[in-house]
Amino acid sequence: MVERIDGRVVAQLINQATKQRVEHLAQQGRTPGLAVLIVGENPASERYVRMKERQAQRLGIHSELYRFSATTTEAAIIKQINQLNENQKINAILVQAPLPGELRFDRIIATIAPRKDVDGFHPVNVGKLFLNLPGNYPVACTPLGIMTLLNHYRIPLAGKQVVVIGRSAIVGKPLLALLLNANASVSILHQQTINLRTYTKNADVVIVATGHSGTVTTADFKQGACVVDVGQNLDQDQHLIGDVAYDDELSQVGFLTPVPGGVGPMTIAMLMQQTVAMCEWEE
Ligand code: GUN
Repeated sequence: MVERIDGRVVAQLINQATKQRVEHLAQQGRTPGLAVLIVGENPASERYVRMKERQAQRLGIHSELYRFSATTTEAAIIKQINQLNENQKINAILVQAPLPGELRFDRIIATIAPRKDVDGFHPVNVGKLFLNLPGNYPVACTPLGIMTLLNHYRIPLAGKQVVVIGRSAIVGKPLLALLLNANASVSILHQQTINLRTYTKNADVVIVATGHSGTVTTADFKQGACVVDVGQNLDQDQHLIGDVAYDDELSQVGFLTPVPGGVGPMTIAMLMQQTVAMCEWEE
């Protein structure tokens, strides 16, 4: 029988703990502060940003939203980031991806002070993660959420074969580092990989983060595999669907993260947790 990994329940547990940490900081007269920058009017980004604002408010985190038109310049965004780098009320800065037009996400991210880079996308933080350096530094929220789910459900990783499909800077690459740091043997598959199934059929854990529905199906997995679906796609009826197309014969799969209710709720929980942690690190 397949076991469903419940991201809503785990996210709620994390949010409760985060709220307590906020209350503890409040006793010392401190409030974590998150600044979110959004550029243009991408509907998915609008939805994420609304959820982030609402969750920050629920947990007692100070949040500020900065809106830019799709025709803004890199210089205008960077100017705002420089001000936020100096702003004592803000300890976490996030630029919502993707950016419209010719705006270069990497250039912009590199101007965030690494200690305020709550997404863990700055090259300094990415480097620390890949080197598995000790100490406190932010790590990309969706990969961190996936690791937290796997840990909560006691899915073993050390010595296991793990396949990640997708090589984005937001999910695939930081996941590679986290899984490697957890002693898994990791394969990253991507658009030019020939015959995905030869990899997925041998994998104990398959993490799918391509942004394309139907990337893999039930028959691609080994008996008892754990399948993590990072996809957030809309079908013809505007319903949220993942990257994995399961058929009715689910007995093959050991664990799966549903969409919605799997990885999705974890990303925001991790963002809030990390915003609070970064405030604590400042002591
Ligand atoms: N767009 C999709 N996921 C993310 C994320 O985790 N952080 C940011 N900044 N943008 C995203």
